[in-house]
Amino acid sequence: TRHGESQFNQAGRIGGNSDLTDRGRGYARALRGFVEAHAPDDLVVWSSTLLRARETARAVGRKSHPWKALDEIDAGIYDGLTYAAIAQKAPQEAQARRADKLRYRYPRGESYEDVIRRLDPVVLEGERQQRPLLIVAHNAVIRALYGYLCEIPAERIPHQVIPLHSVIELTPRA
Ligand code: F6P
Repeated sequence: TRHGESQFNQAGRIGGNSDLTDRGRGYARALRGFVEAHAPDDLVVWSSTLLRARETARAVGRKSHPWKALDEIDAGIYDGLTYAAIAQKAPQEAQARRADKLRYRYPRGESYEDVIRRLDPVVLEGERQQRPLLIVAHNAVIRALYGYLCEIPAERIPHQVIPLHSVIELTPRA
């Protein structure tokens, strides 16, 4: 799942390290209810190191492990801006990202390819888990994990729709 709605989500700003909104906290409580009703006692919980994900994971009421590799895509010099502000400030950058979202790297930040690469250890460790695993992370990161696990072609990964306030449940097969 993505974290609950953050202050930046509400303001349409990307990146940052903002806290949850009241709505986001409501989702975190609902997630706890979902986990209590559906998940076994030995559930393993991982989150990113960012406030919004840690706060959502904490609300679940189980011990959770923060991973830096689960942090959201780094938007570099555009961190904290809205998409409209980026398009206005740097129309060529916005166009370059639209043209190749998988490979476009934010100046002093990351591309989807970078995110996919840094998730390797998370994927390996996740596949080793014998117990059910709940991951509380972010839009681009969940796209990459989902894409890997569901064998989605890399070019399509940045365009997957991963809504806020939804749990995606995947059951691995041999
Ligand atoms: O808007 C929420 C967010 O998680 C941003 O922090 C991040 O930059 C963005 O989604 C990733 O989505 P996209 O790659 O479509 O811009």
